[in-house]
This record gives sequence, C-alpha cells and structure tokens, in this order.
Amino acid sequence: MDEASRLPIGIFDSGVGGLTVLKAVRERLGAESLIYLGDTARLPYGTKSAQTVAAYALDASRRLVSYGIKALLVADNTSSAHALEALRAEFPGLPVVGVVEPGATAAAAASSHGRIVVCATESSVQAGTYPRAILHSRPGAQVTQLACPLFVSMVEEGMVDGPIAEQIARHYLDPLFTGPDAADCLLLGCTHFPVLAPLFHRLLGPKVAVVDSASTTAMVIEDLLSLRRLKAPEGGQGAIRYLATDAPERFARVATVFVPWAIKASEIESIDL
Ligand code: DGL
Repeated sequence: MDEASRLPIGIFDSGVGGLTVLKAVRERLGAESLIYLGDTARLPYGTKSAQTVAAYALDASRRLVSYGIKALLVADNTSSAHALEALRAEFPGLPVVGVVEPGATAAAAASSHGRIVVCATESSVQAGTYPRAILHSRPGAQVTQLACPLFVSMVEEGMVDGPIAEQIARHYLDPLFTGPDAADCLLLGCTHFPVLAPLFHRLLGPKVAVVDSASTTAMVIEDLLSLRRLKAPEGGQGAIRYLATDAPERFARVATVFVPWAIKASEIESIDL
C-alpha cells in the first residue's frame, strides 16, 4: 500500500452546499479522510464571471494541495464548469475531478427520450459546459439550461418543502415539464439542489428522472482511486477536516440543511485565501 493512499481527498466549494458531495463521498468511501474547504467569504460563485471563478478556484485548490492531498474534488458546479482544465494544468499528476461530467453522464443515461433540463447557477449556464458534456454522452439530446438562483437562497434558508418552495419550483419548472414536448429528465447542476430532490420528484412525477451529480461523482472518485491504487486501507472511518473563509457559526448552521450529522462551529477552521 502506497503511503499516498493515506492522504486525504481535498474537496472544495464556494460555500456549504458542496457538503452534498462530501456526504456522497462519505457514504461510498467511508475510510477516506477528507478536507473540505468552503470559500464562504467570497460566495456566491454562481453570479460571477468565468475569470473570477477560475481565480477563486485556483486559490482554494492551491490551499488544499498545500496540505498534501491525493486527489482534488471540485464539488462546486460553477468552478467545475469554468476552471477544471486550468486546475488540471496547474496540478499535473494530481487527479482532479469535477461534478459536471459525472452528472452529465448520469443524466444522459437516465433520460428516456433525451429531453434534459439542467438547472444550475447563472454562471454555470453561461459556461455551457453541461450541454456540451451531455451531448458528448448522448448526441442528439435536446438540452435546455435553466438558471435558478432562487433555489440557492431557498435552500440556505432551510426552505426545502412547503408552499413557498413549491411555488418557486413550479415557477421554474412547469413551463419545461408540461405539454407534448415536456422534458423527461432534470439534472441538478448545483451543489444546493440535491436537497430539493424529494420536492422535485413529487412535483414532476415518476416519469421524470431527477439526477444529481453527487453520487455519480463519488463513483468516479472511487474508480479513479482504485485505478491509481490510492484507496485508503479498509477498516476505520477517515477523519473529516472543515475549513471556511468566513464565520464558522454560519457554516455550522447552514450545514444542517445539507448533512445529517452535526458540525460544530468549533470544528471549523477559519482560513484566509
Ligand atoms: N456551489 C455553487 C454551485 O454549485 C452554488 C452556490 C454559489 O453560487 O456559490 O454552482
């Protein structure tokens, strides 16, 4: 067993939403140690330009790499859409995995007729990375992108069900999921949206596939670590270290929406990038 296999996986996101990806990795790869960096001081990334997002993603990744990691997981969809190539170029030899490709592959496979809606941040929509990745997996698919900024605030407020959440979801989704050309697959292209999946399932019914990239990304990471003989030794549970660039208290509070375990503010290290 290579010493490198004992190193943690570095995960970063613009904030707390990437914990949905951390959770999926934890469920699949419990023995792995994880370092999670939430760049809460500069969030949201989803409204920012490609250049800004790429610069932020580089800062966060450099910090994680400085701790010694065996793989970098870009949980933030917006950074995955804009910065993956730049990150791979910056850290040659380090496995760098984003969430766009795994999500796109999963949606391409899950959609019955290839009519796929991607809901994401405004900046991810502008990048157009999701449609390109879906069309790569499923040429001929009909892909519609939808920027859904209200979903992000809604989730951070813990509003994941109930009449207001339902109304906002209907506002975005009804036009695309009704009528003869209705879409048959909703790809959740943002860290925050997996917690809304039960609501979407209920509103859209059983014929619409609701796909999130978190679990597929965890599978991709597992395959990659296996291939490179970097999987942590089986047995115990890996440690999780949390870093945030802004107040640990808010991070800890909002985290309760995304993971079923409690994260205390005292467990979160404050850092500057
Ligand atoms: N993490 C972002 C994403 O997945 C959503 C929040 C933000 O805009 O920073 O695109």
